[in-house]
Amino acid sequence: MDGVALLLALGAALLADGGRRLARRLVLRLRRALPAEGKAVLITGCDKGFGHALAKQLHTKGFTVFAGCLLADKNGDGAVELKSMKSDRMKVLQINVCSDQEVAQAVDFVKRNLKEPEKGLWGLVNNAGVSAFGEVEFTSLDKYKEVAEINLWGTVRVTKAFLPLIRRAKGRVVNITSMLGRMVSPSRSCYCISKFGVEAFSDCLRQEMYRWGVRVIVIEPSNFVAATGILTADGIDAEAEVLWNGASDTVREDYGRAYFTRHVALMKSFVNSGLKDMSLVLNDITDALTSMHPSNRYNPMETYWWVRLQAMTHLPTAIADWLYIPGATL
Ligand SMILES: NC(=O)c1ccc[n+]([C@@H]2O[C@H](COP(=O)([O-])OP(=O)(O)OC[C@H]3O[C@@H](n4cnc5c(N)ncnc54)[C@H](OP(=O)(O)O)[C@@H]3O)[C@@H](O)[C@H]2O)c1
Repeated sequence: MDGVALLLALGAALLADGGRRLARRLVLRLRRALPAEGKAVLITGCDKGFGHALAKQLHTKGFTVFAGCLLADKNGDGAVELKSMKSDRMKVLQINVCSDQEVAQAVDFVKRNLKEPEKGLWGLVNNAGVSAFGEVEFTSLDKYKEVAEINLWGTVRVTKAFLPLIRRAKGRVVNITSMLGRMVSPSRSCYCISKFGVEAFSDCLRQEMYRWGVRVIVIEPSNFVAATGILTADGIDAEAEVLWNGASDTVREDYGRAYFTRHVALMKSFVNSGLKDMSLVLNDITDALTSMHPSNRYNPMETYWWVRLQAMTHLPTAIADWLYIPGATL
């Protein structure tokens, strides 16, 4: 592809994105919102980040919020803050999404605390998640399993447990995936595998749930690392130690310490990157829960990432890699 064709393609993509945003704003304005009053939503991972902020936003809108926290039993800061609201519509409960027992107890808690349990639960937001980085040759199989256990199997476990209640309400399942649930990036295989899995799970479930009147929706945020606690400099340092020490002698020799250190520095530069304002994500989740006609996918992201996502998912692989991945050749 020569330079002019590339510029034309990018120009068209930008125009399409502008149109997309305008159309979206119009659609959101025209869409009728369902009342929040009398509806209850369970959110996982409310200790901090998107989950914590979403719990507050949905509560303000009038929902009854079941805020699942990993550290509710240990009086974690996020759980304590939500409890201190002292609202009978803000119910904080312990949920580790990796625990069958805690998830079963959460179902019991929700049933006991719904005003009209026979009408079911309106919304489930599978938000709990962890991030990870590291090239394939540095990442242990245990790390792949650990991340999938939370991001993927945690989502499957919680969804299966709450579906009977959601079906009764003809409600909504909202899964927080990522733009990395539909396109990949070097050093992110661990995270991508887990999020691609959640996308596949959500797509299958969406098709199965049409007949029950349940909507299954995915939210695919871009980079909001600066706004949430998902990636910290200390966390990256600790993880880097594990990656380097866990690699074989051959891998350490072939890649070299200098390369590895540069790579870790690059990851650290992401800690303050991305959008600092979470409202794009929070408003899309709110729309997914309240709109009479929600979208199947929401892409809260900047134009750069939207264009890249379209390129990565629509262009021939060789061209997409050549455009975005250093070292790729046509
Ligand atoms: N931030 C971004 O740039 C971004 C972009 C795309 C997608 N996402 C996705 O958005 C979701 C929320 O991420 P975030 O950025 O808000 O991250 P965050 O600030 O780290 O929040 C994640 C939450 O999940 C909780 N959690 C971790 N393991 C858990 C477990 N086993 N069971 C229950 N809860 C658990 C954490 O609890 P503790 O605080 O107690 O550890 C925390 O409350 C994740 O699924 C993430 O993959 C984030």
